[in-house]
Amino acid sequence: MKNKLIILFISFAFLGYSQNKDTKKAAPLKPKAEFVAELMAKMTLDEKIGQLNLPTSGDITTGQANSSDVAKKIEEGKVGGLFNIKSVQKIKEVQRVAVEKSRLQIPLLFGMDVIHGYETTFPIPLGLSCTWDMQLIQRSAQIAAQESSADGINWTFSPMVDVSRDPRWGRVSEGSGEDPYLGSQIAKAMVTGYQGNDLAKNNTILACVKHFALYGAPEAGRDYNTVDMSRIRMYNDYFPPYKAAVDAGVGSAMASFNEVEGIPATGNKWLMTDVLRNQWGFKGFVVTDFTGINEMVDHGMGDLQTVSALALNAGIDMDMVGEGFLTTLKKSYDEKKVTLEQIDKAVQLILEAKYDLGLFQDPYKYCDTNRAKTEIFTKANRDEARKIAAQSLVLLKNDKNILPLQKSGTIALIGPLADAKENMAGTWSVATKQENSISLLAGLKDAVGTKAKVLYAKGSNLDYDPAFEEKATMFGKTLHRDNRTNAELTAEALKIAGQSDVIIAALGESAEMSGECSSRTNLEIPQAQKDLLNELLKTGKPVVLVLFTGRPLVLIEESKTVSSILNVWFPGSEAGYAISDVLFGDEVPSGKLTSTFPRSVGQVPIYYAHKNTGRPLSNKDGNFEKFRSNYIDERNEPLYPFGFGLSYTNFDYSNLKISSDKMNFHQKITITVDVANIGNYDGKETVQLYIRDVVGSVTRPMRELKGFQKVLIKKGEKQTVTFEISIEDLKFYNSDLQFVAETGQFEVFVGGNSNAENKVSFNLVN
Ligand code: BGC
Repeated sequence: MKNKLIILFISFAFLGYSQNKDTKKAAPLKPKAEFVAELMAKMTLDEKIGQLNLPTSGDITTGQANSSDVAKKIEEGKVGGLFNIKSVQKIKEVQRVAVEKSRLQIPLLFGMDVIHGYETTFPIPLGLSCTWDMQLIQRSAQIAAQESSADGINWTFSPMVDVSRDPRWGRVSEGSGEDPYLGSQIAKAMVTGYQGNDLAKNNTILACVKHFALYGAPEAGRDYNTVDMSRIRMYNDYFPPYKAAVDAGVGSAMASFNEVEGIPATGNKWLMTDVLRNQWGFKGFVVTDFTGINEMVDHGMGDLQTVSALALNAGIDMDMVGEGFLTTLKKSYDEKKVTLEQIDKAVQLILEAKYDLGLFQDPYKYCDTNRAKTEIFTKANRDEARKIAAQSLVLLKNDKNILPLQKSGTIALIGPLADAKENMAGTWSVATKQENSISLLAGLKDAVGTKAKVLYAKGSNLDYDPAFEEKATMFGKTLHRDNRTNAELTAEALKIAGQSDVIIAALGESAEMSGECSSRTNLEIPQAQKDLLNELLKTGKPVVLVLFTGRPLVLIEESKTVSSILNVWFPGSEAGYAISDVLFGDEVPSGKLTSTFPRSVGQVPIYYAHKNTGRPLSNKDGNFEKFRSNYIDERNEPLYPFGFGLSYTNFDYSNLKISSDKMNFHQKITITVDVANIGNYDGKETVQLYIRDVVGSVTRPMRELKGFQKVLIKKGEKQTVTFEISIEDLKFYNSDLQFVAETGQFEVFVGGNSNAENKVSFNLVN
């Protein structure tokens, strides 16, 4: 005991910060490299390996941090960080164990899946991407950083930037859609939002780009499944958003679960070292995904010791949950399977991150309990979330201009998602207090006040099959399954429908029908709800489909039968308010799809930036042609293309001009287009620019997004929108994986979605 105290005293002195029970600042530290080197010189091999260990918070409850199992490990110097603990009090207690009880008092990282907001929850990332507004997206990450840092968190496992073109994969909900260019802009906005310009501030947090790499392209859309793709496709289509995050200075990266070229990403040296560090210059640390090292045993890469060494040697620095590093690295070192240099490199990167966060300066810097009381789920943050959510909704159809609705008469709100506050935040919302989310029913009532009457009926369960509903409503996201018969539920719905002027059908997926391990083979609205919708349509009353979903769905039937479809994704904690704002025209819809909606699941993977093939259809109408690339039972084109989304107003594009029909490698070319608001509402339009490289040394996509601007245009007004094309926009990875532009003809399309037809062209010359 006495010895322990002496050690404690000495180590306090040599770490260089006076023990600080509150948040008072200590004296300035030595510069990072020197500080970290001095600290590492004092560390035993065990303590070094301990820094590479990232367990979950396990059994910690408030007031018991000292006695938890994980606390013992922290005391023994066997933990570098912890994740998914919610509450500043708990975090403060646990940090105290690290800085008062472990020999070297190295503070811990506290991570969390702060994916789309903290308690103030923003739309699921796929929805957020549909705003096409980088400032709003950045702001959402900034608010998430502010709230989570006020609650003790200093590291988020976000942004998730996996490009995906397969809506069967449930995690499309967590990404930004199918496009590498848009995905890259969003990656940058998110990293900047979380990390700000100074990571050491107490309201910025370390970001973690994930899941490196290619996690969004599993075979058959089944989560964690094999990925196999050519390098040219990786570099051109799937890598850019990860690289953009690195270029934006992201402080950490997470390895993906899948294999890449036959080697799991977690053990893939080419990926983690050659690409990430050597080619892209990544300076942060790499963490595995949850038990990613252990899972390499099932991948068939060897026993735990072997795969742990494989991971470290590949370039992994921190082991999430599985404790492969903790339990085997020393043995591997003794057996010369890993080197001290490799261990030191990982330790150094983790300590540097802690230094950058200011944790050595003040381990309690994110533990200000006053901030937790005043900065989380504030009115101001919620107001911003509501505005952002309204911009993420995508109006897919509004044929008879039923929308916007009047705040008068009687409105029937029907469907299992109508009064479902637990589902509004969507998947991956660990910090959300579900009871605080605003259901559509609550939002509608608030919006109409006494001006209109809102009648509600559930109408159907999520699906006929209760076992399916159970899988689709995990983590407390219940839809309160109703035990009445289907006939009873329908009868109640039809009764209120009969008393109403308009019907809002709140249908679609539950929150957990997308997200991790929620792959689907059927992309339609569940049958019970489709049947309900058909019954409602039979009444002949105007029906608005408010569609909740975490992925593109197959809406071929609804697109024919329903005249208004508003796709709302999962809009976050302010859902009901934001949806009502749009339904009543207080906000004019401006969201545009960032992933293609297929006509049939058989078209998947489907995306706008496809190649032409040697046998494209020769007719413009898309009719079947034998021996051309098409289907005998479905058309090629999607139901709703990338970039598509309607407004309550209409925009007219004209006067597309190009500054020159020639450009050399040092010049820029300017494109202008006039966009007129010819409808009856002020509205925002995302003007999109696509480029086609007509002839290349490798085949090139039919078109690729290379610019966009979201502009507010008042009704009756016209704006000239200007884009500049530089040589960077014309570059791609060729078959030698060199990033080059090639001379020749380029076509430029500008318009309101990826089918834009207005076209100009130019030649790139030497
Ligand atoms: C997910 C990650 C997440 C991690 C930690 C994993 O299952 O794939 O995205 O960050 O868990 O919660």
